[in-house]
Amino acid sequence: MSNESIIDVMYERHSVRKYTDQKITNKVMEKIIQAAGSAPSAWNLQPWKFILVQDQGLKEKLCEAAYGQQQVKEAAVLVIVLGDTQANLNAEGIYSVAANAGYMPESVKNDILANIKRVYDTVPNAGVQLALQNSSYAAMQLMLAAKAEGIDSCPMTGYDSKAVRELLEIPDRYIPTLLVTLGYASQPAHGSGRFPVNQILFYDKFGSR
Ligand SMILES: Cc1cc2nc3c(=O)[nH]c(=O)nc-3n(C[C@H](O)[C@H](O)[C@H](O)COP(=O)(O)O)c2cc1C
Repeated sequence: MSNESIIDVMYERHSVRKYTDQKITNKVMEKIIQAAGSAPSAWNLQPWKFILVQDQGLKEKLCEAAYGQQQVKEAAVLVIVLGDTQANLNAEGIYSVAANAGYMPESVKNDILANIKRVYDTVPNAGVQLALQNSSYAAMQLMLAAKAEGIDSCPMTGYDSKAVRELLEIPDRYIPTLLVTLGYASQPAHGSGRFPVNQILFYDKFGSR
């Protein structure tokens, strides 16, 4: 384990848009994606998939779909983080494994499965909302895991979703939540500030400091 704390990694991560030519090995990418997939999710449904793009021709087409943002074609790897709008279909498999492993009795498993079905069947837009929200947690973990490996990133939603879907043959079930460029920085991120804690924190009730 690195000596760097997770909090140091958070502060060191910034959106880098200029990268060297250095490649990222698939072994390192798999480590990062595995770490991203350890994110929490509602009912542990893990509504995410990741497409890694390394092919230069495809990166150039994706750069056009991202309105010409150069980091898309200059990054070593692009990751398209997908949200699964039908993650309820994962439930039976996930909970059977959990029950068989002794993490919960069969009755708890059945209650949870009934709850998941109720929400996905009755709450308007639940599948889309849960897909976007939960896959964003995985995307954040991905960027922090990359940074811990010395790899910089830039999260992006500035792209034509329909064009990205067509280029990468993404089925309707999945939403491209975020495009993340990854690579070794050749120029640092431009500076950015944040609100201080006294402007974002309330105690007990909204507005109380
Ligand atoms: C949801 C989201 C969408 C973003 N889209 C873009 C984008 O399309 N292009 C870009 O250059 N940066 C994009 N960014 C990066 C932000 O500009 C950046 O995170 C913000 O300015 C704070 O700077 P920092 O990440 O360097 O700390 C995006 C960030 C987020 C979280």
